[in-house]
Amino acid sequence: MTLRLHVNVDHVATLRQARREAFPDPIAWALACERAGADGITCHLRKDRRHIQDADVVRLRAELSTLLNLECSLDEEMLTLALTSGAEAFCVVPEKRSEVTTEGGLDCLQERARLREAVPALTEAGGVVSLFVDPEPAQLDAAVEVGAPFIELHTGAYANAAPGPAREQELERLARAARHARSIGLRVNAGHGLDYENVGPVAALEGVEELNIGFALVARAVFSGVEAAVRDMRAAMGLASA
Ligand code: PXP
Repeated sequence: MTLRLHVNVDHVATLRQARREAFPDPIAWALACERAGADGITCHLRKDRRHIQDADVVRLRAELSTLLNLECSLDEEMLTLALTSGAEAFCVVPEKRSEVTTEGGLDCLQERARLREAVPALTEAGGVVSLFVDPEPAQLDAAVEVGAPFIELHTGAYANAAPGPAREQELERLARAARHARSIGLRVNAGHGLDYENVGPVAALEGVEELNIGFALVARAVFSGVEAAVRDMRAAMGLASA
């Protein structure tokens, strides 16, 4: 199975919104990610619009040459926007105003009734639907029950676990969940908290088709770009290069 990398561009929008500037532009970032080999772009239009804005989704859809995966909650306003977004994929996520980032997986058991309506509606709108869930068998069974073709396994607990036995245990949970998901007909993506150090074992999991990664890429690029950024500013100021 060929593994794909989808890049989440929310974090660039977070930086832009910190100054309410027009830059850094998450769409320009997304296009650079595509040039570097991203197989798709993911963004999360949150109800509080803390990072991605409605206009970003429109521009992403128009300018991407890969595909757009839109994360959305089950909130009515967000679902309505998702349905008309033209995104090729939707990932249904839980959303709390107070959280810094998506904290836990979606509770598919609790949300069964709303998912039974949302999954067919999003599918009819032309997108492949995945549900962002913790690696728990009951959640996977509920995902099948509501008709989702994909789940995205929440890798946050794995990423946050201390390297060693604790992380191994979380990796085994992910592996078991991926196996269970496949055995009941679900296709499997994964993501959250993955970085250069912890991504390898998740990338190697049997049956995982796509990883969604955002923060670690921005954190890496800040450092890999710093020397050129300082040199370019010296040049812009008319100073000699160091
Ligand atoms: N998958 C989902 C559903 C997410 O909400 C996020 C975070 O925006 C990610 C993947 C990517 O996580 P990270 O930014 O930690 O790589």
